[in-house]
Amino acid sequence: MNVTESLRIAEHDTHIVATLDRPEKRNAIDQELIDSLHTLCSRLEQDPRTLILLGAGGTFAAGADIAQLRARRAEDARAGINTHCFARIRRLPMPVIAVLDGYALGGGAELAYAADIRIGTPTLKIGNPETGLGIIAAAGATWRLRDIVGEPLAAEILLTGRVLNADEALAAGLITHLHEPDEARALAERMAASVARLDPAATRATKRALNAPAGAHPAIELAEQAALFESPEKMRRMTEFLERKQAKK
Ligand code: COA
Repeated sequence: MNVTESLRIAEHDTHIVATLDRPEKRNAIDQELIDSLHTLCSRLEQDPRTLILLGAGGTFAAGADIAQLRARRAEDARAGINTHCFARIRRLPMPVIAVLDGYALGGGAELAYAADIRIGTPTLKIGNPETGLGIIAAAGATWRLRDIVGEPLAAEILLTGRVLNADEALAAGLITHLHEPDEARALAERMAASVARLDPAATRATKRALNAPAGAHPAIELAEQAALFESPEKMRRMTEFLERKQAKK
């Protein structure tokens, strides 16, 4: 499945790799890319697998497409074009891993914040320069970035336009690993392979619990666990563990 020229898709049994591929525009996220990401989400909602997001040409994404942004008006802002797309990515049933090479700015950073796991490369530059363009970062930065790095650093990034380099992003927990691009991608693929060995129902339940609003805890965990405690897969996995231990005695 290749969604469009600007979003290249490689399908594997355990995961899908989606590469933002508009390097001549530093992978700026335009309407076509948003439409392609929605098509990809439909696919992953029907056939859940881990998603690995990459950017081509040494850049993750240098933001929403400013040429299109300039033409947008109040009604477009209210429609939340990027906001709803990134929220849908966040809600995907299985994990989303973003490999951040080079610039991840503005909407590109917000796409990265929507991922569950972020891996960086040494060239990473991540931040939200929106206020310099006369707008706010409305597609997740003001709440997801705060959740990831805490309010003090999120406020500095959002209010001063500070762009973090790779070491700073690692220290802040904005990325959890830092590797050269080939190894960063290989690590993402190994993570996808690890996820595929786990129980998909438990993985999906964990994502729902992680993404639930504060008021939903711990009721959501208890409901998810109640469903899993009845699952044949839980019985099979636990029995296999106990029998393996017994056989060693
Ligand atoms: N939207 C639209 N086009 C963009 C873009 C964006 N967010 N980011 C880069 N481009 C385009 C440039 O306009 C240029 O197009 P052109 O060749 O037709 O003139 C092309 O991509 C290459 O960009 P350039 O600035 O020449 O590359 P660079 O490597 O010197 O600099 C950046 C890279 C990312 C530092 C710089 O492009 C930049 O500051 N981009 C905007 C970042 C931003 O403010 N993002 C927030 C948007 S919400």
